[in-house]
Amino acid sequence: MDEWIDYYDSTHTIYVSKRHRDVHFAEIARDICGYIPSPDAVVLDFSCGEAISAAEVARACGKLILAEPAPGVRGRLTARFASAPKIEVRSLDDLPTLAADSIDLAVINSVAQYMAPTELDDALGQMRRLLKSNGRLVLGDILQPHVGMPRDVAALLLMAGRHGFMKDALWGLARTALSDYRELRTKIGLQRYAEAEILTKLRAAGFTPARASRNIGHNPWRMTFVATPNK
Ligand SMILES: C[S@@+](CC[C@H](N)C(=O)[O-])C[C@H]1O[C@@H](n2cnc3c(N)ncnc32)[C@H](O)[C@@H]1O
Repeated sequence: MDEWIDYYDSTHTIYVSKRHRDVHFAEIARDICGYIPSPDAVVLDFSCGEAISAAEVARACGKLILAEPAPGVRGRLTARFASAPKIEVRSLDDLPTLAADSIDLAVINSVAQYMAPTELDDALGQMRRLLKSNGRLVLGDILQPHVGMPRDVAALLLMAGRHGFMKDALWGLARTALSDYRELRTKIGLQRYAEAEILTKLRAAGFTPARASRNIGHNPWRMTFVATPNK
């Protein structure tokens, strides 16, 4: 759904402050590092966003491919990591040109909610082609049908309390209530899946999936799945 890509390419206020943005990406990088199988692993971060802490991930692996559809975000990634030899910035359109069986770990975090179900199926199919037979796909931050916006607010406030940006979080929530994000979330909505639906999708794409015991990032009410390619 292109509206969400345009939204992420705009000067949005999804992060309530620089501290929030930095803490968010530091937590995502830490959690991705936990899934890296070996120091020479090739890692693909699908729709990585600003990926502020990608250097941490690159330090823990052999090569990190940052794939991002929003052209402005991609331009900033290219500039930020120009002198990082292990980091390669790509568009999602480049993924079909990458070699099959070349990726050890593919991560799709906090993206499925912005995709039409067919787009997610297509992305899972691409990951199945790119992953090595002993590779892993981590699909994170899946919203569940019965968990609404109040839990997102609670998760943000808990994170703000832990990291000392409560005042910014409260202002940010007030701003969000009046923002494009709220308008788009109301107009297009976010795609939600029950655990069984995601397991079915992953199986249909040729994976053996399982739900992880904890979600990637700060929101414990969302789900992460780990999937291995079927032999
Ligand atoms: C919330 S950010 C997640 C960024 C990063 N993965 C993280 O965990 O912080 C959502 C990302 O999804 C991308 N996106 C939005 N709509 C998309 C779509 N329809 N297909 C693929 N990516 C999309 C945006 O460009 C943005 O990079």
